Amino acid sequence: MFLTKKEEQMCNGEFGETIRKSMDILVALGDIYGASKLVDITSAQVSGVSYKTIGEAGLEYLEDLAGDGLAVASVNASLNPPGTDLDNWKELGFPEEFSIKQNKIVDAYGKLGISKTCTCTPYLVGNVPRFADHVSWSESSAVAYVNSVIGARTNREGGPAALAAAIVGKTPLYGFHLDRNRKANLVVNVNCELSGADFGALGYIIGKVVGGGVPYFKLKNAPDNNDLKTLGAALASSGSVALYHMENVTPEHKQAGVEDVEDIMFISEKEILKTREDLSTTDRQPDLICLGCPHASLEEIKKVANIVQGKTIKNKLWICTSVSVKATADRMGYTRTIEQAGGNVVCDTCMVVAPIEDMGFEVIGVNSAKAANYVPSMCGLDVVYNDVENLVQFE
Ligand code: F3S
Repeated sequence: MFLTKKEEQMCNGEFGETIRKSMDILVALGDIYGASKLVDITSAQVSGVSYKTIGEAGLEYLEDLAGDGLAVASVNASLNPPGTDLDNWKELGFPEEFSIKQNKIVDAYGKLGISKTCTCTPYLVGNVPRFADHVSWSESSAVAYVNSVIGARTNREGGPAALAAAIVGKTPLYGFHLDRNRKANLVVNVNCELSGADFGALGYIIGKVVGGGVPYFKLKNAPDNNDLKTLGAALASSGSVALYHMENVTPEHKQAGVEDVEDIMFISEKEILKTREDLSTTDRQPDLICLGCPHASLEEIKKVANIVQGKTIKNKLWICTSVSVKATADRMGYTRTIEQAGGNVVCDTCMVVAPIEDMGFEVIGVNSAKAANYVPSMCGLDVVYNDVENLVQFE
């Protein structure tokens, strides 16, 4: 891979040890994937945050990296969700030791200049690249969103690569950064109208079929941005989709080369309904309903507030979101309405990497196909997959 003189100096440690280590990662990645050079990025989104997944070794690595305090992110960079509400873990019943370690991890990232936004929907709260920007994002659902809905360009980066890119401000030029790799290779005709959890079911079906390919959707009805984030998260979890196109919806659909695609699929209402059923692992009632995978938008919180207003919820209810979205939900009175009904708006937390298996829960109700896919394997708990209206039970 071609390196400029300054990049070579970075590799040689002339800009400090953290930058040298970061360049090592980027150059190795570029060499593996045949990148021609490094390209400037405008934004980074860094995963590898939960104590449940990176553990003590990850915490030590980050504290060591942040130790000299010399290198910090050189672009707008934000952090993925941890496994706890960083401020209100005690009130919400998260385990103490886990939450303390989790805060230390986030603090180390903070010292490296990664914003402690702690969300998988950074595009809702200030990390919003422009169309065609090169970026380095690592949370799979956010990668699908930023590539497909915004039209910025990233590969599915690992946490260390996105962190290295955030520090150096560059990423290797290969994969989805190049026009030729952004063409569709499967056309999906959906024969029925979709709403709510149908989008997750569709994403789950197609992710399995297309793997790391680029599907092109033709829908009967127009989705909103919440539907698109649900669809992308599901595509990225049952498959490894980084980019999809949707006719008359996503910004690159006209450049997707759909006329050259030979693989064509048709999806019926029956298949959507069957997949919705299959995503549940039990018919027991959930004891915790966990919404916000990917993290909830203000409109999604408003919808829940309207559903529960003036009622008492039987099961426990969490809506996971970022601190910024919750601050607005607080002002709008949505949080209060939800709390009065017995639910909670939970900040920062990813339900999949939270220690929910240690908190006494057995069955988790979700409206996210990504969560339905991961909760049984990552947490060892049963899931019920449905729309929020059908999950919440009232006294
Ligand atoms: Fe976000 Fe965790 Fe779901 S990172 S997309 S809440 S699995």
